[in-house]
Amino acid sequence: MSSDNIEKEIKRRRTFAIISHPDAGKTTLTEKFLLYGGAINLAGSVKGKATARHAVSDWMEIEKQRGISVTSSVLQFEYDGYCINILDTPGHQDFSEDTYRTLMAADSAVMVIDGSKGVEAQTRKLFKVCVMRHIPIFTFINKLDRDAMDTFDLLDDIEKELGIATCPVNWPIGSGKAFQGVYDRKTQTVITYSDTEKGTKEGVSEEVSVSDESAMRSLIGDEAADKLLGEMELLDGAGADFDLDEIRAGNLTPVCFGSALTNFGVEIFLKHFLAMTTSPLSREAVSGGERKVIVPEENDFSAFVFKIQANMNKAHRDRVAFMRIVSGRFDAEKEVKHIATGKVMRLSQPQQIMADERKILSEAYGGDIIGVFDPGIFSIGDTVCAPSMNIKYDGIPTFAPEHFCRVHLMDTMKRKQFVKGATQIAQEGAIQIFTELSGTMEDVIVGVVGVLQFDVFKYRMENEYNVEVRMDSLPFEHIRWIVNPESVDVDHLTGTSDMKKVRDMKGNPLLLFVNEWSAQMTIDRNKGLELAEFSEN
Ligand code: G4P
Repeated sequence: MSSDNIEKEIKRRRTFAIISHPDAGKTTLTEKFLLYGGAINLAGSVKGKATARHAVSDWMEIEKQRGISVTSSVLQFEYDGYCINILDTPGHQDFSEDTYRTLMAADSAVMVIDGSKGVEAQTRKLFKVCVMRHIPIFTFINKLDRDAMDTFDLLDDIEKELGIATCPVNWPIGSGKAFQGVYDRKTQTVITYSDTEKGTKEGVSEEVSVSDESAMRSLIGDEAADKLLGEMELLDGAGADFDLDEIRAGNLTPVCFGSALTNFGVEIFLKHFLAMTTSPLSREAVSGGERKVIVPEENDFSAFVFKIQANMNKAHRDRVAFMRIVSGRFDAEKEVKHIATGKVMRLSQPQQIMADERKILSEAYGGDIIGVFDPGIFSIGDTVCAPSMNIKYDGIPTFAPEHFCRVHLMDTMKRKQFVKGATQIAQEGAIQIFTELSGTMEDVIVGVVGVLQFDVFKYRMENEYNVEVRMDSLPFEHIRWIVNPESVDVDHLTGTSDMKKVRDMKGNPLLLFVNEWSAQMTIDRNKGLELAEFSEN
């Protein structure tokens, strides 16, 4: 394949994560996207939402039992000449570190907000990670067919809660029973809402320019027209100006309104979104001791692992490493180099993992996500690239767990399996394992980002490793890595009474606290001590 073609393929790709608080409408919106795309890889969506929800990552009993999706998945579809990759994030409150890591593989994020609720807890958490990475955020305010909060209040909420400026691309005309459609600011037209058959393409809308006031009035009625004209005046004075650079820097979020369920405003949003997002972004890597920018279309194949998942499917008891391709073209026939071990190999069973089916791939391009069979050599953050490249992407940060349990092994004869299971599950990154400073692997503390992972851990220990464990929850909620262990006396730190010293799997010392205040107190009491919420190594 010519390099022109590779460039063309990369340029038409868009890779984004979709984030929201549970129930805001992420699944429904994703399904509607797929409808427009005539999804090349169906996420079970055409089978109806209930199936889709499970089908997305139907790999563990625990998910089925609770009807939730613990893992993230990837969907790809074509629309208007674009090849779009959506990284779905688990829709449950108890998400895991994987949710955060998934964001590391995206170039932008779509944030779905329920118009009657505004910004909710999970959105806030995920948003923090987007900010850390300067990921551009595109907001879709959903459920306008239900009574929504005042539009200005919604925008205010985003600005105050998330600290990001908003720029409405369109503006809702009423909500709930009075929902009439949206006003498009750029074209200055009113696009009317028509409640459509769920699941079909967007309904037939009428469009009229606001400059033709009488036509607009007869279309939406005097009351709505007066309100809209008043709001337009306020908006032009109050809202942030549209600025593509600010959007791409993650400082400004464009906002669209609609109703995913009734399929209004979805295609409008998609079109605006595609016009504003970029093709796959360059990333920095270390090459020969120096930092270098890897431009997707100017380089050979390179990718990094952002997620490892075991036992995706009962039929294939295996481990799959998910990679984001940063540059070039992936060719299943060609050898690649695993930088961490220096091994040159062919990636085994490269596949796109969609819903409950897997599709074996022979090629993929910068921006795409592929899953490969992992014989146990990949770790999160690893770089894989064409043998000639020899580059290393930055690692993926370890996010601070917020919940901790002490794990007791019920049968001490099972120690070996216990250590193996706990270590493997931790390597996949679903949980983090800590030991007391002087402790051994028989007595471990498990830390997780979302408490559901405790159940997943227990379930997997019992079902995959045949080891029964008891989990006792611990009161800690704050974890701090010691940044400079070599310059402080870790054994003799003066801490607070609620402080616990532990080590992570790499041997780094860290401290657990019940409250944030204690962490600060410990810094004050120990001159020179530096603590961090993330670990980069
Ligand atoms: P999530 O992935 O963000 O968790 O949300 P999901 O799409 O599953 O939607 C959550 C609920 O909100 C669903 O209802 C869904 O039908 C509804 N919903 C989504 N978008 C809209 C919208 O634009 N308007 C209205 N009125 N409702 C919307 P449910 O009752 O939980 O599920 P179901 O019984 O409809 O399947």
